[in-house]
Amino acid sequence: MVQLTNSTTELKLNTGASIPQLGLGTWRSTEEEAYNAVISALKDGYRHIDSAAIYENEIPVGKAIRDSGVPREEIFVTTKLWSTQQRDPAAALDASLKRLGLEYVDLYLMHWPVAFVAKVTDGDYPGMTVPRDDEGKVLMDEDWHFTKTWEKLQELPSTGKTKAVGVCNFSVKNLKELLAAKTTKLVPAVNQVESHPLLPQDELLEFGKEHGILIEAYSPLGSLGSPLLKDEELQAIADKYEVSIAQLLINWGLKRNTVVLPKSVHKERVESNLKVFELKQQDFDQVTNLIKTHGEQRFVAPDWKTHDVTLFE
Ligand code: A2P
Repeated sequence: MVQLTNSTTELKLNTGASIPQLGLGTWRSTEEEAYNAVISALKDGYRHIDSAAIYENEIPVGKAIRDSGVPREEIFVTTKLWSTQQRDPAAALDASLKRLGLEYVDLYLMHWPVAFVAKVTDGDYPGMTVPRDDEGKVLMDEDWHFTKTWEKLQELPSTGKTKAVGVCNFSVKNLKELLAAKTTKLVPAVNQVESHPLLPQDELLEFGKEHGILIEAYSPLGSLGSPLLKDEELQAIADKYEVSIAQLLINWGLKRNTVVLPKSVHKERVESNLKVFELKQQDFDQVTNLIKTHGEQRFVAPDWKTHDVTLFE
């Protein structure tokens, strides 16, 4: 069996800050699951927790961080601006901090490059919804653009309420548009996107390298019900190391110098997902080549678009 150790590697953001390369994802974790997963993760040695307002679990995520006994400054915390709130990111960040019970986050991300019409709903997470008309059509905020959201987001680090800002789900075209805007003064620190061997995001990685934008991989295991976790070819490679396919996929992502954010609510999976091992180049290459036989697959693909912004193109 190969030697397994906990991941402790950190990468550098364009702000100069360090970011732990492996973090816990929390999408689709219920309140109770999120609390337990974050407590477990921090006990195991995770120092990076990825959250979002729309996940509706910032309250338990923050409570787990506070209850864990791990000093706040040792944990890298991310949350995200939901698309109903793009016209007022400062207020949205305040609401997230209040729910988290934290004075600051380490990274605040624009969740999608499209805005929805503002909608206030009841409860602890007002506005955390995808607004639709009576026919079920998503209500896009056609008079807004992500360059305007960014103009406001880039001001937030100076408030001390977030140490850095970035984006999610931006294509190269979206990023070029963002960087070219007259109002843009700050380069996003990261672009968090779906990434795994069937969606390697090579173009974004290259663009990120050129411009100092770190790529963070969400759904690195292929998301809910992932076919990757049942793939025979991946199983054969994982068997050689006596690791799980999940561990193989995570280590593949780490070897590509991306931040990797596997989600789990199972204690033993949370623990095993933190393990790193030496993945030989030829096995890394075989995982990379999987796309040649399986084809590209995007598992998270909403069809939201406005007259001037298209996702993923
Ligand atoms: P669960 O939370 O029930 O463990 P991704 O990070 O790509 O979005 O995928 C996470 C999916 O894979 C989740 O549904 C998660 O379910 C499952 N998962 C996470 N870690 C493992 C693991 N080590 N082995 C098998 N399935 C896992």
